[in-house]
Amino acid sequence: MNNAPIGVFDSGVGGLTCVKELAKLLPHEDIVYLGDTARVPYGTRSKETIARYTSQDMEFLRGFNVKMILVACGTASSVIMSSPEFSGKTEPSYSGVVIPAAHAACAATKNGKIGVIATGATIRSGSYGKVIRSIAPGAKVVGKACPMFVPLVENGYVGKDCPPTRFFAEEYLECMKREQVDTLILGCTHYPHLADVISDIMGADVKLISSSAELARFAVKTLTFNDELAEREEAGRQQLYCTDSVELFSENVERFLGESFSGTVEKCSLNT
Ligand code: DGL
Repeated sequence: MNNAPIGVFDSGVGGLTCVKELAKLLPHEDIVYLGDTARVPYGTRSKETIARYTSQDMEFLRGFNVKMILVACGTASSVIMSSPEFSGKTEPSYSGVVIPAAHAACAATKNGKIGVIATGATIRSGSYGKVIRSIAPGAKVVGKACPMFVPLVENGYVGKDCPPTRFFAEEYLECMKREQVDTLILGCTHYPHLADVISDIMGADVKLISSSAELARFAVKTLTFNDELAEREEAGRQQLYCTDSVELFSENVERFLGESFSGTVEKCSLNT
């Protein structure tokens, strides 16, 4: 048993998709979330800059004595995998979205054609492709960067029939339809907010894999295995932090977490 909070971070509101799933699966856990809204997006930046931001985000969460850090950002998760400064054992341990999502996609595909949509930095890193091929060497992986998706989500343009969202989604997903992928990884944690429009375009036969939900499931397995689940009667507390306007972030929290939110939103500054 361990009643310390779970730390979760993302560049913005994307990681809330992980918080939502986590709160559903483990309602008694305390969660500390950081959305680095002053510096979103990460996905258009250099590997060095993303690595620096990621270290600062993790240091912030360590200040809460969290028992585990969930890197609920596909971009940061991908950079961590190829940056030597993140290798080796750390206290507390951390997990990113890439490995859990790749495993779920390999288990789901029937025709061996897996699509990955994510930020430019994630697609450039080839992170998902490397892990997928290590699990299923014969799999075909089709990657596509979707740079307009993060600003659309951050600004609330998430509706299935919202014209700009639909326009960009049709454009980005064209290659996935052409290549006949039967499984599509939403490799950026902002994208599950667009699952309706993506599913509408891809069709009901294509299985969507939410990288955030897979990370939350992975956290449940890890904490269970390590006997580190919280033991308390009452619901866990959710402390959310952002690095820019609380007002704007709160609007998104309300929009994306709805009833699963029962906590506080505060502004913080990071050690930069
Ligand atoms: N939600 C993020 C990801 O999963 C970051 C998007 C961004 O900041 O560009 O990649």
